[in-house]
Amino acid sequence: MKNIRLTVDPSTEVSHINREIYGHFSEHLGRCIYNGLFVGEGSSIPNKDGVRKDIIEALKNISIPVLRWPGGCFADEYHWKDGIGPKETRKKMINTNWGGVVEDNSFGTHEFMDLCEELGCEPYVAGNVGSGTVREMSEWIEYMTFDGESPLTLERKKNGREKPWKLKYFGIGNENWGCGGNMRPEYYADVYRQFQSFCKNYSGNQLYKVACGPSGGDYNWTRVLLQNVKPWHTKGISLHHYTIPSGDWNSKGSATKFSDDLYYSTIRQTLTMDDIIKGHTAIMDELDPKNEIGLLVDEWGCWYDVEEGTNPGFLYQQNTMRDAIVAAVNLNIFNTHSRRVVMANIAQMINVLQAVILTEGEKMILTPTYHVFYMYKGHQDAELVKSICQDFTQEGARMITSSVSKAKDGSLLATVSNASLSEDVELEIDLGGYEAAKAEGTLLNADVRAYNTFDAPENVKPEACEVELREGKAFVKLPACSVVSVRFTK
Ligand code: AHR
Repeated sequence: MKNIRLTVDPSTEVSHINREIYGHFSEHLGRCIYNGLFVGEGSSIPNKDGVRKDIIEALKNISIPVLRWPGGCFADEYHWKDGIGPKETRKKMINTNWGGVVEDNSFGTHEFMDLCEELGCEPYVAGNVGSGTVREMSEWIEYMTFDGESPLTLERKKNGREKPWKLKYFGIGNENWGCGGNMRPEYYADVYRQFQSFCKNYSGNQLYKVACGPSGGDYNWTRVLLQNVKPWHTKGISLHHYTIPSGDWNSKGSATKFSDDLYYSTIRQTLTMDDIIKGHTAIMDELDPKNEIGLLVDEWGCWYDVEEGTNPGFLYQQNTMRDAIVAAVNLNIFNTHSRRVVMANIAQMINVLQAVILTEGEKMILTPTYHVFYMYKGHQDAELVKSICQDFTQEGARMITSSVSKAKDGSLLATVSNASLSEDVELEIDLGGYEAAKAEGTLLNADVRAYNTFDAPENVKPEACEVELREGKAFVKLPACSVVSVRFTK
């Protein structure tokens, strides 16, 4: 048993934790949208306008703040006009990035924007730069947000939507250094400047434009981009960084069968997120000293080999307690860097990569990763407060991550992860003068290879845990391979 102290200074607020840090990503990829989220109005699975009701409820329970769509790589081959109007006349296309399957465009702009309204979350639309035109992008924004009369708004009304939707987040391309056009940063910066000029603010709607930022530690991309793209061109730049257990894209390994060595390697790989954010933040602080441009980690998560017997282009993988630890580590890192990190979107929401929800026919399960989002939801729109946590290392990785925030109602939320497979921790939380009358603890703990199945959906689930309050301190057990959250109230 290791004794670890977390010292909190509740009166020192460090930065605001945007609720969008707890965001999600849904791409037209595999069974994320079709046969996942969207089953169609005619399905026997209970649905609202074609979207599964059980999924809507699960997403509301974690207070989903923002949903990114339609890609991913798919975004740069998506032509939005194919996805509006009567479904039977919508054009079909080939999804060249993901399995070469036929995309029938039955889930389009109206379905997505209406879903976000139903969920009470911000839509984050990714526009097509790679194979689209300036006019196409500009018209999409007009179609969605203009309240006046124009041929496009008349069409929107004809398609059943009288009033415009509210659209804040708009991405101008996706991975334009790769699947989005294989551009150099010098070239993309100019293309970005051109495209964004025609992304207008209509009828009081204010766009938060997002430029395609770097992949992982590509600091040159960030530097060149920000030398050419200024706060009056963009509000944010994206960052994509996935956890590949071995660090080698050619041997990613199984989601459920892995050695302890590979597990610790997964943790080391995950922790690079901290260094990568620090690296980009340093460049941003130099080129954007007033902190006017945000960093949006709009794709993150574990990426393994696809589950045996599934379509390799569908990126379906199971989700174990290892994924829960990875999620907890990443979310603590994002909270810690919330001065710059204004949004993060786990890839992806359903049935793809590090999903929070898996489906099979009418069945649906919540993954260990989902439970971490549930345990951390109190950080949304809270203030990060100063805290320092003791730590220890194993296999070259630090084992403890944490973050503490103060909510508008004055409550404190501490979230801590213990990645060790062998060391239980007795955690002492020094509340720095915060006079807590009540402490509610929640623990997620299971074997690192444990996961939920359609037959045993509750193998891994959070449980209430005991927190002892004594002389301004709290004491809670953090077993090996666990995540704990404690909410303190006066
Ligand atoms: O999330 C899967 C893919 O990963 C996305 O389409 C792309 O943006 C990234 O490379």
